[in-house]
Amino acid sequence: MSQSLIGTHKQELDTPILCIDLDTMDANMKSMSDFIKSRGKEWRPHQKCHKTPAIAWKQMEYGATGVTCAKVSEAEVMAAAGIEDILIANMIVGQRKVERVAALCQHADPIVAVDHFAQVEPLAAACHARGVLCRVIIEVNIGLDRVGCRPGADTLELAKAIDRLEGVDIVGIMGYEGHLLCIPDQVEKREKIEHGMNVLKHCRDLLLEANLDCSIVSAGGTGSYQITSDCEGVTELQCGGGIFADPFYRNQCAVEGLEYALTILATVVSRPVLERAVLDCGRKTQYPDLETPIVKGHPEATVTRVSAEHCQLDLEGESRNLKIGDKLELIVGYADHTTVLHDAFYGFRNDILETVWPIAGRGKLQ
Ligand SMILES: Cc1ncc(COP(=O)(O)O)c(C=O)c1O
Repeated sequence: MSQSLIGTHKQELDTPILCIDLDTMDANMKSMSDFIKSRGKEWRPHQKCHKTPAIAWKQMEYGATGVTCAKVSEAEVMAAAGIEDILIANMIVGQRKVERVAALCQHADPIVAVDHFAQVEPLAAACHARGVLCRVIIEVNIGLDRVGCRPGADTLELAKAIDRLEGVDIVGIMGYEGHLLCIPDQVEKREKIEHGMNVLKHCRDLLLEANLDCSIVSAGGTGSYQITSDCEGVTELQCGGGIFADPFYRNQCAVEGLEYALTILATVVSRPVLERAVLDCGRKTQYPDLETPIVKGHPEATVTRVSAEHCQLDLEGESRNLKIGDKLELIVGYADHTTVLHDAFYGFRNDILETVWPIAGRGKLQ
């Protein structure tokens, strides 16, 4: 679509657009991958923060073994781009979706998370009818209290029941420590994450004692991977969003060693009074709620109000020199809910447009 703009300087482009600093994103990918590898684990990054096959492939080049998705349709997008090892870390319910997973097994090798026999039985039937085998892992509730099978006997019984079915293959377990990401005291955070991972390890041991396959123990997000990677028993980490290193992860989750890579390029469209500027990037362009965006290069400017099409800055000191027509960048506070508002990522090196990647998984909700 916008490929003809390649080679253009950032300052010459229409706004608002979603920008990646490619050098920084590459460095973040390398840092995450190296960290996880150094702990002897695999990296299976969640792609919900980018939903873009080109970025998933870059993660694979940096050593990811596969990807994690939330939806069948996201997995279909990744499979169409040639990625085979895809964990769908959400419960798949409904005959049509189950048939789609079975079809996916014919040209990829997905893994589906389940927490109840009622999800796995129709999947097994659909796969058996097609003559394919779908890998399954059990999501265990390690304290997030969202989905998840109860650890212990319930998980073991479900694993045994899955093992008796044709069409599916039990290969392991997963748990997500999403409730522990923002604990400010790092000692307490580590203790609680270790406790959660011990719950997973115990479940793994139960499966292994029963001669069931538990070669995958999947966990972790960006807000926790620097701790979860150290936990015994965990075999792979699902952290994805760290490639953009949103302020949410750095400020609320104390994640270190990653640099901001995702911004919105915006234009000052109004300067009603000395202490206020208004940008053209409201809530239809960005999601400011979980963590306030940072005005790059203008430490004395603060985002104070965001409505549908307007983003209001309060200005102090030097930033009061901003004038109508100036272009500036907002560091995206939390990427997940922002990227899905855009058709494409604009990738820059040294502020020159190098690539435009359509966000192919955008709107893939089924
Ligand atoms: C199942 C699962 N895994 C991993 C993550 C972490 O993703 P990220 O690293 O992008 O924050 C999440 C976040 O919601 C999740 O739900």
